[in-house]
Amino acid sequence: MTLDLARLMSGDRPDKYDLHTRYLNAQMVRVLRTIGFDRNYVRGQNQYLYDQDGHAYLDLLSGFGTFALGRNHPTVIAALNEVLGGELPGLVQLDVSILAGLLAQRLLSYLPGLDKIFFCNSGAEAVEAGIKFARAATKRPRIVFCEHAFHGLTMGALSLNGDKMFRDGFEPLLPGCVAVPFNDMARLEEELSRRDVAAFIVEPIQGKGVNMPSDSYLRDAAALCRKHGTLFVADEIQTGLGRTGRFLAIEHWGVDADMVLMAKALSGGFVPVGAVAAKKWIYDSLFDRMDRAVVHGSTFAKNDLAMAAGLATLEVLETEQLIEHAAAIGDRITADLQAMIPQYEFLKAVRGKGLMIGIEFGSPRSLTLKAAFALLEQARKGLFSQLMVIPLMRDHRILSQVAGDNLNVVKLLPPLTITETDRTWIRDAFAAVIADAERMPGAAWDLGRTLAGNGIKARAGAA
Ligand SMILES: Cc1ncc(COP(=O)(O)O)c(C=O)c1O
Repeated sequence: MTLDLARLMSGDRPDKYDLHTRYLNAQMVRVLRTIGFDRNYVRGQNQYLYDQDGHAYLDLLSGFGTFALGRNHPTVIAALNEVLGGELPGLVQLDVSILAGLLAQRLLSYLPGLDKIFFCNSGAEAVEAGIKFARAATKRPRIVFCEHAFHGLTMGALSLNGDKMFRDGFEPLLPGCVAVPFNDMARLEEELSRRDVAAFIVEPIQGKGVNMPSDSYLRDAAALCRKHGTLFVADEIQTGLGRTGRFLAIEHWGVDADMVLMAKALSGGFVPVGAVAAKKWIYDSLFDRMDRAVVHGSTFAKNDLAMAAGLATLEVLETEQLIEHAAAIGDRITADLQAMIPQYEFLKAVRGKGLMIGIEFGSPRSLTLKAAFALLEQARKGLFSQLMVIPLMRDHRILSQVAGDNLNVVKLLPPLTITETDRTWIRDAFAAVIADAERMPGAAWDLGRTLAGNGIKARAGAA
């Protein structure tokens, strides 16, 4: 007896949006329909998605950064098939796994100064583990994080979330978690000098808004942490594994962390996984006695499929030199977009590193456009960015996202495999949609009126 999945998914199958409206998140379906993202993708390969008519879409979202290798990479598939066909003795629990040992060893070869790995199943779980390691190691209660930070949505990780929209309705959260402004050393010192802070947990480049650290911020923050006995924890869940053109983003600024959190790309795009890399003394302070060998963990952590996907991911990053490629092509895409700034009134800034790029829009100079922009922003802050994201999809088959709630920043987070052809696709599409928005009256502003009229809560994905 086999389950005929192909038959289940084809022919007279129920409509997927109906299923989701009825049995899952109906609000998500409303958002997708409102912004015209309700496409029938039937296939994914590398940086492209394909719909039922065979149209290719350029995926600049890559599953919120998960598909660094692109979708369905053959090396990852082969590794997973080997596990599936290998009758491996996985998840014995009262044993240890060879694949987990090998992945930990290989991962640490990229992380000088760190000695041990803790595996889990997601980014948020890596953050939860980071909090527990920090409290165990320092015997201190408080955690400092940054305004606008995003570290995941489980209760501990949510306690480090710098965005009210995510927190509202779920408080009280973990006590002793305090936000400081990103790039503000004085406020950080104010908190750390109380000497009760276990960890400062920070994204080297903030995902929400693609906010860049000042040249000295991360290095100075790490030094301050050391001075006050606080652990410096880099959340590299989005920025890590080559996304920014280095294995870790903190390498751009020559910073050493006490712990590094990873997830997303390590999955190879297939199997959920998270990892905390830590110094030995930190790790050993949590797993400190035989009777505490299971004091933190999770049933599915270290499963063979996840470990094999991680090993295959590192192999592909190396053999295809994707990190170097991300650095080079990311610089060229950023330069293409920056070159448009003098040409377009709405385009204010383009920033990022490697293939994590934020494109910021703002109020134009000319009076009619300025008034239209103000009206749109009055209806809902950040709505202008939808005038970019919607036509990018509708007219150019580009899947992109707004970099966060209430922000006029469009974020590009493509697979690290994108090509020169894709670069041209991106450049031409952005030039066209921005030029359209600067035509008044025009189709873009008809859409603007509709969106403002609807007062929609359109968040085209916000991770
Ligand atoms: C920087 C950062 N930390 C943590 C997380 C949470 O990861 P997950 O969604 O796997 O729980 C994310 C997810 O977007 C992230 O970008």
